Amino acid sequence: MDLLRHELIEGLTAEQMYISSKFFYDKNGSKLFEWITRLPEYYPTRTEKTIIREYGHQLFAHLNHVDIVELGSGDSTKISLALDAIPKNQRESITYRPIDFSSVTIERSKKILSKRYPELNIEGEAADFTKLKNLPNGQPRIICFFGSTIGNFEPEETQNLLSNISQLMNPGDQLLVGMDMIKDLTTLQRAYNDSQRITEAFNKNILRACNNILGTNFFIPDYDHRAFYNEEKNRIEMHLEARSDQFIKSSYFTGRIMIKKGETIHTENSHKYSFETIEQLAHNSQLSVRNVYNDSQKWFSLVQMVK
Ligand code: SAH
Ligand code: AVI
Repeated sequence: MDLLRHELIEGLTAEQMYISSKFFYDKNGSKLFEWITRLPEYYPTRTEKTIIREYGHQLFAHLNHVDIVELGSGDSTKISLALDAIPKNQRESITYRPIDFSSVTIERSKKILSKRYPELNIEGEAADFTKLKNLPNGQPRIICFFGSTIGNFEPEETQNLLSNISQLMNPGDQLLVGMDMIKDLTTLQRAYNDSQRITEAFNKNILRACNNILGTNFFIPDYDHRAFYNEEKNRIEMHLEARSDQFIKSSYFTGRIMIKKGETIHTENSHKYSFETIEQLAHNSQLSVRNVYNDSQKWFSLVQMVK
């Protein structure tokens, strides 16, 4: 059985059932996420964009003969803001390397960006950035990890991911990480419980993705969207709660998995940070924080780390 199916079964048979948030991003899920980024309640995307716009000149305008590696690149809107800050004649010397699970996403960004910046070299890769073994060598690298995707990992996984990136970096390379900050409860909870219920659709779509990969019989209307802030762990948690007893079957496992009414499947963590935890994460990864760029409310940080 392949790894993805094995991972899904492991989660569905755990005491607290879970489905890893990486399964959100099938074709439909990626589209729903793009809708989320435009919701009035979902502040992270527009706030990070404001920061990239404001500090873009300082961060990108001088770049020449570098590789811009983007982890979990998604749609191409944020990197476009960075590329806009670089003069056209310098862009000729730059290679943009998006890395994302989704090959559809990579192909789409390539198409959009090559039209908009014909002088740019683009080398995309459909890969898991948690399993990076090397980075292209030759020119200095600026590694962009926007969107606070880093917050979707458990603290230990986040630390491992940052340490791995750090090991792959050369002196002179830099890492730019978007990190969502701890803030008032109402703002946080509204961002994951929007009035148009797009986040709910995004959350529920993971069951469809699971049915497609594992041939399970999840029936989406039998589950409710739950998103709340876990103050102890400084994270939004998303779950799907069974409305009645469910029996889940698949040809990939024997017997049935029972989900009792009121039980939940944990689908996502979205950690929120303080300046202290940012420093600590960098320090534990043998990186130092050179600059932290913020919006005026300090809702979001774009953190520049170097070796
Ligand atoms: N950076 C974009 C997209 C964030 S959504 C933004 O800021 O808006 C998260 C993206 O990361 C999705 O496109 C998803 O496919 C990708 N992703 C999540 N985990 C990944 C992993 N382990 N390896 C590669 N891509 C991953
Ligand atoms: C991609 N990631 C950082 C988003 C987040 O906020 O954790 C995914 C998301 N989940 C619900 N809404 C958006």
